Amino acid sequence: MTLHEIRAAMEPIVRRAGAYVKSAVPVHANEKSGHADLVTEYDVNTQRMLVRELTALLPEANVMGEEEHLSCDVTKGYCFIIDPIDGTTNFVMGFNHSAVSVALLLDGEPVIGMVYNPWAEEFYSAVRGEGAFCNDTPISVRNAPLRECAVTFGTAAYYPPLAHRTARVVDRLITEVVAIRSLGSGALDVCDSARGRCGVYFEFRLCPWDYAAGSLIVTEAGGQITDEHGNPISYTTPGSIVSGGKQACRELIDLLRQIP
Ligand code: IPD
Ligand code: CA
Ligand code: CA
Repeated sequence: MTLHEIRAAMEPIVRRAGAYVKSAVPVHANEKSGHADLVTEYDVNTQRMLVRELTALLPEANVMGEEEHLSCDVTKGYCFIIDPIDGTTNFVMGFNHSAVSVALLLDGEPVIGMVYNPWAEEFYSAVRGEGAFCNDTPISVRNAPLRECAVTFGTAAYYPPLAHRTARVVDRLITEVVAIRSLGSGALDVCDSARGRCGVYFEFRLCPWDYAAGSLIVTEAGGQITDEHGNPISYTTPGSIVSGGKQACRELIDLLRQIP
């Protein structure tokens, strides 16, 4: 199968998963690692549905997913990296701002990325070398200095030292940029930086399933995604993320260095 054929067959699978998540009414959330780390039956069911349909589409592919400890060697051959619901807390609380995120890697590098927010009907996608899209419209990053941008950030309550460092960075930025937002879905934050809603997004600890799909979308949109030091991101281990337009990313990385 060509990448184009795979992309065409993946889209309805991701859209079905999104429609299922949107139709769900989460009545019960379980704690994973702590009081602020939630999971619902829909996270698990959606991942199972995606794994079943994506592996039927591409049987030779490995799969990494957030739920049920689904891991594999992402560096060889094809590998899907899945976050069935990114923004589970939003989903549980009824904020209607969550997404299904699926990346396809080939030998460790993303070749297809899809992030779907079924409430907003925004379907972000990219194929390596072919640009990035929201629905059928090409998207590109905001090329502007940090002070002319909105900045988004994420942080998990279950990493207290990182949460407090994030608050120090926000305290510094709040009077220096146009606006600050924290929206609760890392995958959608990366896509917002890809389409220039925010100039730059940062978070001190995310997992590969949070950003694998978005990373291709933002680079295909003319932007960059690195760790907080400006180094390449990893698809095997968690790490910090700075994504968006190149100038704003550079300026934010400089500022993060001053706030350890
Ligand atoms: C979370 C979201 C959130 C980010 C957290 C992630 P989940 O993913 O992306 O915005 O701040 O760090 O864990 O748990 O909702 O899939
Ligand atoms: Ca996630
Ligand atoms: Ca998730």
